[in-house]
Amino acid sequence: MKGVSSRVQEGFTLSHEGGMSHRTVRMAAAFLALVAGTGCATQSPQALVSGDAASKVYVAPGHYDEFYAFLSGGYSGNVSVYGLPSGRMLKIIPVFSQFPENGYGYTQETRAMLQTTYGEIPWDDTHHAELSQTDGVPDGRWLFINGNNTPRIARIDLTRFETDEIIQIPNSAGGHAAPFTTGNSEYVVSATRFSVPIPNTDMPIENFKAGFKGTISFIRADQPGKMDVAFQILMPGYDYDLGHAGKGPSAGWFFFTSYDTEQAYTKLEVNASKNDKDFIAAVNWKLAEQCVKSGKAKTMPTAYAHNYTDEKTRVATSEIKKSVLVLEPSACPGMVYFIPTPKSPHGVDVDPTGEYIVGGGKLATVIPVHSFTKMLKAIADKAFDGELSGIPILKYEAVMAGEVQKPGLGPLHTEFDGKGYAYTSMFISSEVVKWKLGTWEVVDRAPTYYSIGHLMIPGGDSKKPWGNYLLAMNKITKDRYLPTGPELAQSAQLFDISGDRMKLLLDFPTTGEPHYAQALPAAMIRDKQVKFFALANNGNPYAVHSEAEGGIERKGKAVHIKMAAMRSHFTPDNLEGVMVGDTVYFHVTNIDQDWDIVHGFAVLGMHEANLILLPGETRTLKWVPLTAGVYPFYCTDFCSALHQEMQGYIRVSAPGSNVALKANMSDRAKTQEARKGAMTMPAAGEPKGQVK
Ligand code: CUA
Repeated sequence: MKGVSSRVQEGFTLSHEGGMSHRTVRMAAAFLALVAGTGCATQSPQALVSGDAASKVYVAPGHYDEFYAFLSGGYSGNVSVYGLPSGRMLKIIPVFSQFPENGYGYTQETRAMLQTTYGEIPWDDTHHAELSQTDGVPDGRWLFINGNNTPRIARIDLTRFETDEIIQIPNSAGGHAAPFTTGNSEYVVSATRFSVPIPNTDMPIENFKAGFKGTISFIRADQPGKMDVAFQILMPGYDYDLGHAGKGPSAGWFFFTSYDTEQAYTKLEVNASKNDKDFIAAVNWKLAEQCVKSGKAKTMPTAYAHNYTDEKTRVATSEIKKSVLVLEPSACPGMVYFIPTPKSPHGVDVDPTGEYIVGGGKLATVIPVHSFTKMLKAIADKAFDGELSGIPILKYEAVMAGEVQKPGLGPLHTEFDGKGYAYTSMFISSEVVKWKLGTWEVVDRAPTYYSIGHLMIPGGDSKKPWGNYLLAMNKITKDRYLPTGPELAQSAQLFDISGDRMKLLLDFPTTGEPHYAQALPAAMIRDKQVKFFALANNGNPYAVHSEAEGGIERKGKAVHIKMAAMRSHFTPDNLEGVMVGDTVYFHVTNIDQDWDIVHGFAVLGMHEANLILLPGETRTLKWVPLTAGVYPFYCTDFCSALHQEMQGYIRVSAPGSNVALKANMSDRAKTQEARKGAMTMPAAGEPKGQVK
C-alpha cells in the first residue's frame, strides 16, 4: 500500500509539471492500485494519500481533537464547528438563520436577534469567520461572522458557542469585506461589496458613476453588548471585496481590496475586468479616529438595528440606532491611499511580521506583494500617480516588495505558517501554492479537489500562526464522496504542512458553502465551557425556580403557562381553560442543573419550531390553537430512561366556554407550595424585548 501511494504521489507531481491530465493520472493510479491488490480500484485514486496520513488524522474514541475549527456556513447563515485533525463535526451555531433544531429565531427570547430595519429576517449568507484577538493573536473570547446579504456582523461567545449580539451595518449593501478585526478587537470592519446610492434613494442605475458610493465601516467590538458603528468612510463606487488589518509596524492600518474600478454596472464579467490593475485601499484607522475626534466626520441620519442577548434573562432585545458618523477622505488627508494591484484582486493578507501585504488578483498572472515600509516611504516622497475622489494613488513600483512569478492560475487567498512561508489558494488551477516570503520563489504545490476558495491555517492570518495544518475549502466536489443527487456535499481538505512538502491527509464534507474559517488550539477554550446556567441567576421574568412556581394565568386573550421541565416530567402537565381565540405562551424552564441534561418541548399543531432548553434556561413557545380539542405536548430531547413518559395535555374549548383555568401540579410541587406559600406570576406584560 505504501509503495503504491508514493507512486501515485509521483503521478500528481508529474501531472502538474508535465501537464498530464487528471484523467490520465487517475487511470494510471487505478491501474497501480489494481496490480498491487489493494482493493482500492473502485475508489477515486486521489483518495490515496501517503501511508501515515490515516494515523495523523485518527483521534481515538474518547480522545479530543487538537484544534477547534470554525467554518462559515455560507448560505445556511450559520457557523459550523469541527475538530481538527479528525474533521469531525461538533456543532452548528445558528447566527443569522432560524434554526429549528433548537428553536433559535423562533422562540420569544431569541426572535429579536433577527431584527433589522427591513423587519425580522430569518436568513443570511455568512462568509468570513474571524476570532477576536489580543495583541494580534486569537484569544478565544469571541468569534465574529458577517451576514453578506443584509449587511450584519454577529458576535459568538466561545464559552457557550452561542450568538449573543448582531449589529446591522447602515449605508451598505453586500457586507462582504467583513468582519476582519484589528489587533485588539478594538474594531471589526465591514466594507460594501455592492456600491449603492448613499443614502439609498431612487435613482436611475445608469447614474452609477456619479451617484453610487461604497463605504468602509469601523464597528466598535471590544465590549459585549456595546457593538456600535464608530464611523464610516465614504469611498468611490467600487466593489470592496476583502480586508485585513495591519499588525506589528502596520498595526494602525487596514487594507481592503477593490475591483470594478471601471465602475461598470452591467455585464461585470467583461466590463469589470478591463483595467490591468485595481486597488488595495490602505486606511490609516488611527488617523481616522483622530479626524472623528476633531469633528471632521459628518453626522448622517440613517437607521440600523443592534440586537443583544442579556446575560441574566437570556432574552434578546433589539434597538434601532438613528445616525452614523461619516468621514470623507478629503476631510481627513492621509487617511486613505490606493495601492494599484493586478488584477481584480480578491484576498488581501498581511504576513505575521506586518511588513508584507499580499494581493490575490483573480485574473493576475503573478502574486503581487506590497511592502509596508516602502508604502510609508512612497507616501513621504509623494510617489503618486494622481488621485481619485481625493485619494492619492501610490506608484505600484514604489510600493511593490516583489512578485511571485508563475504561481498558477487564479490566486485568491494567502495564509502564513509563521516559519517564513506563504500559502496561496489558486482557484482556476485547483491547487495550493507554497512560496517563500522575501525571495518570492514557489517551493511546493499541492492539488486540491476541486477549485479551492479560501484556505486556513490555524492563526494563519495573525501574528502567531499555529502552522502545522492547512485547510482547503473547495468550491466543487465532483467525485470525492458518494454522490447524493444533483447537489453534492461541500468539501474541505486537510493538509499536513509541518514538513517541507504539503501532504494531503483528509477529505471531509461540510455544510452550507464554507467560505473563510478560523481555528485555534482546543486547550485555549476547552476548559472554559459553561456547563449549565445557575437557576438562581435565571432572570427571565417567566422563569420557575422550582416545580411549585409553575402555573397558568389568563391576561385577556393571552394565557401564560409557567412550566418546569426536569427528568422526567413537566409541571404542570395537564392544562385546561384555554379557548379558541386565545394566544398561549408556554414559558418552559429546564430546572435540571447538570451538564448536557437538555429537555425539549413541542405541542401538536404548533407553527413554530421546538424549544430546546439548556439546563437552567427558560424559553417561550407562542401557540395559537385554531380548533377545540385536546392537544398533547412532549419532550423532544431524549433526556432519560423515562423520556417517553415526559408528556402532558392542553385542553382547548370553544370560545366563551366556562371551563375553569386549571394546571395539574406534581405531588412534589404541592409539597413545595405548601412549604413556600402560593406561587406568583410576574406582573402583566410581555418579557422585555419580546417580538410578536
Ligand atoms: Cu426531557 Cu426527554
